[in-house]
Amino acid sequence: GHGEVEDETEFSYEKNGEKGPENWGTLKPEWEMCGNGKMQSPIDLTAKRVLIDHNLGSLRSHYLPYNATIKNRGHDIMLKFEGGNAGLGIVINGTAYQLQQIHWHTPSEHTIGGRRFVLEEHVVHESKDGRIAVVAFLYKLGRPDSFLLSLESQLKRITDTHESEEYIRMVDPIRVNFESRLYYRYLGSLTTPPCSENVIWSISKEMRTVTIKQLELLRVAVHDQSNTNARPLQRINERLVKLYTP
Ligand code: MLT
Ligand code: ZN
Repeated sequence: GHGEVEDETEFSYEKNGEKGPENWGTLKPEWEMCGNGKMQSPIDLTAKRVLIDHNLGSLRSHYLPYNATIKNRGHDIMLKFEGGNAGLGIVINGTAYQLQQIHWHTPSEHTIGGRRFVLEEHVVHESKDGRIAVVAFLYKLGRPDSFLLSLESQLKRITDTHESEEYIRMVDPIRVNFESRLYYRYLGSLTTPPCSENVIWSISKEMRTVTIKQLELLRVAVHDQSNTNARPLQRINERLVKLYTP
């Protein structure tokens, strides 16, 4: 793992709260990037800052069905893929990044032209030398999302039993379906402590859809009072955002 935080009591999303996002950087020395990093995520993807790029290449992925565990991390629900998933993942600039986990933020963390969406899915990958690449999908209300539909019974079990883990026999990550042709690319950070930087973000421009019932299922499964797990927007500073168009 990349030092992700699994104890829900360590930080919160409460605005200006003691453990809230504005204070993450001072809660622990290892978290100082959350406060003073210059390449933090999420950001607003605004058209006037975006550079069209024809050379990034399409966002291709190779995945096979794989065993996974659904976990309640306190601040979100995560689908963790078991180790040894060699070859499953994405390739960016010749570097292979292996699929590690998928989790969800409600509402979205990234915004487009100031517009926030109801849900954001993060598909987290890591290279052999520890570099992180996250592929993100934004959702608006509409038809059910088929990947979430396939996880419905496990999400319900987490909710009903208050268990923090559910084993799933074969999840087919192909359902996360990456054939997204247009995507934004920028260099940012993890959006939770320790807010480590140099994370390669690829955010699909194409919206997906989800139902209110599916959103509720994710929210309720977290068993948390706060109705958000979206970090506030961060400064873009000197960074460029590229938009890949074939
Ligand atoms: C992120 O997308 O940056 C995450 O929320 C960090 C994590 O997976 O812990
Ligand atoms: Zn995330």
